Amino acid sequence: MSASTDLRLNPYPWYQKMLQHSPIVYSEPFGAYLVFRYDDVRSVFQDYKTFSSALYDGLSTELTFDNQIQGMDPPRHTQLRALAAHAFTPKAVADLEPRIREIADYLIDAMLAGQDIDFVQQFAVPFPVRVIAEMLGVPEEDFDRFKVWSDIIVEISERLLTGQTEELPEHVAAYKEMKQYFQTMIHQRRAEPRNDLISRLAAAEVDGQQLTDLEAINFCLILLVAGNETTTNLITNLIRTFAEHPKQWKLLRQRRDLIPQAVEEVMRYRTPVQLMFRLVTQETEISGTKLKAGDRVVLYLGAANRDPAKFERPDTFDITRPASPHLTFGHGIHFCLGAPLARLETSIALQVLLDRLDAFEIPPAEALEPLTEL
Ligand code: HEM
Repeated sequence: MSASTDLRLNPYPWYQKMLQHSPIVYSEPFGAYLVFRYDDVRSVFQDYKTFSSALYDGLSTELTFDNQIQGMDPPRHTQLRALAAHAFTPKAVADLEPRIREIADYLIDAMLAGQDIDFVQQFAVPFPVRVIAEMLGVPEEDFDRFKVWSDIIVEISERLLTGQTEELPEHVAAYKEMKQYFQTMIHQRRAEPRNDLISRLAAAEVDGQQLTDLEAINFCLILLVAGNETTTNLITNLIRTFAEHPKQWKLLRQRRDLIPQAVEEVMRYRTPVQLMFRLVTQETEISGTKLKAGDRVVLYLGAANRDPAKFERPDTFDITRPASPHLTFGHGIHFCLGAPLARLETSIALQVLLDRLDAFEIPPAEALEPLTEL
């Protein structure tokens, strides 16, 4: 196993070293300041004026990522967020619960009926793809294209954020195809609304303002990434963590009332999105380190969630831990819009797994592979 694969599979010993000795450090490869401590990460999220999200502005002409909600600052962000929140309501999520359960049951049945079980490919990947595709109102025959597109958007975003701004023809072609696909759906739903998220996005109005086509398209695209990759990571982390902690699994089997706490503890213990980026807009400092306009910072959510200054016994996985104020969904104005959906999907996955699996094993750590490269 290479050193970088090793680090990706288990970054926690490195995080503890950084938290203790170098909580803010400049990294040449990233071209950015790395921030590890809980309080520092939270303060950066909180101060959106000094730490901007407009990371994609001007990076690409073909890949218009600067038009997506996560890469915007107020006042554009405030407007778009209000419109999106209008369409992506907690009720719309809660209404989906029976259907999410059916999807989880169907996938588990298919997985357990087979000879070789590949939990990631047979459950953790397709589960959130199907949920978000159905929520958006995409027909079933297009689900497979969805996963391919979602992977491409993750690749594009990772390349842009790590300074690889050269546009790959296959990315541009795929991006155009996705835009065209959603453009057509949005036009169809404007003409004939249905009970789905695309119809609600197409119709959403706040203070007389509607989403432009490009904003609505980019919102659909961000949901693909935000809703797929992250939840796949979370459910994969969940099975790995319980496999390593069979006593906690046994306890959960006896005490299902602990499911909500167990979901939060997995999110804290193995954070599905390890890093977030911000751009400094004016001279500032983080815990004594001076930064200037144009500097970039990388926030290590996975390290913040194991900061001993915030969490007792941070490296212990304990599903009886009282509600933890982890930073897994970010903090402040960009706080994850899909958090209720991610929590619901994960608790349903956990219930279905508890129903079907007495105990389980996964291959030893050396046989595991990280899901993405960054
Ligand atoms: C375990 C699953 C998930 C994790 C760990 C996660 C994590 C995050 C984080 C850390 C942010 C903050 C980004 C920032 O501050 O720059 C965020 C924002 C966002 N998330 Fe999630 N997310 C998850 C699932 C979802 C789902 C299921 C959806 C929707 C289907 C979603 C939609 C969004 C959107 C739209 C934003 C942007 C909000 C804004 O910029 O105002 N997320 N997510």
